[in-house]
Amino acid sequence: MHAYNITVVGGAGIVGQEFLKVLDERQIPVGRLRLLATKRSAGKQVAFRGQTVTVEETTEASFGPDDQVVFLSASGSASKLYAPIAARNGSFVVDDSSAYRTDPDVPLVIPEINPEDLDWHHGIVSQPNCTTTPMAMALAPLHRVNPVKRIIVSTYQAVAGAGGAAVDGLAAEAAARLAGRSEPSGTQKREIAFNAVPQIDLFAEDGYTKEEIKMANETRKILHAPEIAISATCVRIPTFFGHAMNVWAEFERPIDPSEARALMASVRGVTVIDDPSSESYPTPLDVAGTDGVLVGRIRRDTSLDGGLTFWVLTDSIRKGAASNVVDVIVEADRRGLIRR
Ligand SMILES: NC(=O)c1ccc[n+]([C@@H]2O[C@H](COP(=O)([O-])OP(=O)(O)OC[C@H]3O[C@@H](n4cnc5c(N)ncnc54)[C@H](OP(=O)(O)O)[C@@H]3O)[C@@H](O)[C@H]2O)c1
Repeated sequence: MHAYNITVVGGAGIVGQEFLKVLDERQIPVGRLRLLATKRSAGKQVAFRGQTVTVEETTEASFGPDDQVVFLSASGSASKLYAPIAARNGSFVVDDSSAYRTDPDVPLVIPEINPEDLDWHHGIVSQPNCTTTPMAMALAPLHRVNPVKRIIVSTYQAVAGAGGAAVDGLAAEAAARLAGRSEPSGTQKREIAFNAVPQIDLFAEDGYTKEEIKMANETRKILHAPEIAISATCVRIPTFFGHAMNVWAEFERPIDPSEARALMASVRGVTVIDDPSSESYPTPLDVAGTDGVLVGRIRRDTSLDGGLTFWVLTDSIRKGAASNVVDVIVEADRRGLIRR
């Protein structure tokens, strides 16, 4: 693979830092690495492959034609501002925010599922929400042989999905609670330690939250299936890493759980751990720190003809974010889509 010049906006954040770790673990060649953030982190020193990279403050002048890859991992408003500037320079831009996910001119890509969508990019490629990716990876092989009509999903999302401050917030809240105090960190909509909060992001007019709406719209886009009916409920729970969710899907025809297990396991990166006789199923601790999507509890939904229900997990900062971005860059390189 070519050694590209990579610039990361949000390079001091939890996803930006994990991205560097994944580059290193996979021995992805890197030309010149730049890390950008806000004034808060400017000057911070980050070690990468024996070198020290100093974090710089991001401005509109931070981007130039020698940035071959720009990874935006900061916020929706930062992406709206900087992605077009970087794309105009001819950089291959991967955006991890929700800013472009439903933009019809921007592909939303999981390389194991819809790599061909990279071919029609116009400079910016979007990265799915961390809850969308595992559900789409488990459902896609089933949908190809037996179309999905309707999905109901409930999530159990770790605090890492809300950024580095939320991880620290849970640790502090838990320590306070164990000492008999209630000290909400303000990183979630409610105190999160020893609690469960059924609100991630803001509410829209129809009573769904934006996180729930993202899951529905992004899944339809990735599966190229605008007709699928989807209702999501997204809940934050006090785990640190590893998003879990239970999916109920209705297919055009009944689907046998053993066929579903085999189809899901055929997707690169998906592992099925599902044996009730030995009480085998995956949990957030099993997926934390890995690049996998783990699936278990696969069974026929006995309330519905054509119904199947299962439990699926991924680490939001790995395949839910950083690892998928690395996968996108590797696939784009393979397709010759990045300027050399
Ligand atoms: N966490 C996840 O599981 C996950 C999964 C999928 C997608 N995402 C998306 O990934 C992005 C980063 O999330 P995160 O979890 O890594 O958050 P984080 O830990 O809070 O880090 C955010 C990083 O972005 C920087 N930043 C924020 N606003 C900026 C701006 N206007 N200009 C330049 N830099 C800015 C911050 O700078 P300072 O260091 O100076 O504060 C920090 O380095 C978000 O768009 C998020 O929606 C996150």
